[in-house]
Amino acid sequence: MDDVFDPQTASQQDRFLKDVLDGLAKPKKTLPCQYFYDEAGSNLFEQITELPEYYPMRTEIGILNTQAEAIASALGPRALLVEYGAGASTKTRILLDALQDPAGYVPIDVSEDFLLQTADTLKTEYPDLAVHPIAADFMVELGLPVDIDGTPVGFFPGSTIGNLSDDEIDQFLRAARRLLRSGSKFVIGVDLRKSPDILVPAYDDAQGVTAAFNMNLLERINRELGANFDLEAFEHQAIWNDEASRIEMHLRSLKPQSVKIGGTEIKFDADETIHTENSRKFDLEKFVALIGATGWTLRKDWRDDRDFFSVLLLEADD
Ligand code: AVJ
Repeated sequence: MDDVFDPQTASQQDRFLKDVLDGLAKPKKTLPCQYFYDEAGSNLFEQITELPEYYPMRTEIGILNTQAEAIASALGPRALLVEYGAGASTKTRILLDALQDPAGYVPIDVSEDFLLQTADTLKTEYPDLAVHPIAADFMVELGLPVDIDGTPVGFFPGSTIGNLSDDEIDQFLRAARRLLRSGSKFVIGVDLRKSPDILVPAYDDAQGVTAAFNMNLLERINRELGANFDLEAFEHQAIWNDEASRIEMHLRSLKPQSVKIGGTEIKFDADETIHTENSRKFDLEKFVALIGATGWTLRKDWRDDRDFFSVLLLEADD
């Protein structure tokens, strides 16, 4: 299998190399966080969600379970669930089980293998449900399958929206508004602002799983692009940026060094960092201001009893 030329894999590899070199050529070095999720990275993320310090996943699932009936009744019958970045589908099932006569499920994800696997599992578990996966980057303009009726309901759990900048959120919500047609709704999970005493350990856990998750990005670049990052010479950092209201993950160079990626040499000063992720922690008023011009209005705000996380219901302005 290894020597079979796969044009899709080849172009994905080109794209990865280009994104890595572009990010590392900037005066403040960055790497795009979507590259965390190769097989090793996805497994590490799953381990993160089980850490005592990492509250977002279990808090959101708690809200979805507690509010399932309220969410289902706010969405109404014949929902066509469109999930952005389809994960392991635990959260999807909670919604599907509560929804009244769901019309269909459209998971959208860039990782095609994982997407088709999730779609197959759901097809067997929900034989009456029309399942129509779309393998694509959800930031680009997409079309819905025309043969499924029902009320389109966007679903974007996990506070993954917190990885996006203001401009990207604006672009994403406008594109979603066009895709989901009039009369549609949107269920979005957002992580809320809270004490750095809770936030920092959630992204710098005692067992070092998040450090391994962050470092896996360099390992992946070594594996897939033949680079020579010295994994002993970088360390994981999680910083609370209060002004930007976000946790930033960085990889800090422990010494002056240079790294070869393909034919390109990249130099690092001691203490220089590669910024690998932003995980924004939202303030609801600011979030509402942010979505104001995108064609969506906030209708509901379901929270846990500590106000750590919120599941929001948006409705399309028609
Ligand atoms: C999957 C983007 C929601 O930001 O909390 C977990 C990723 N990064 N630990 C998050 C992540 C470090 C996670 N999201």
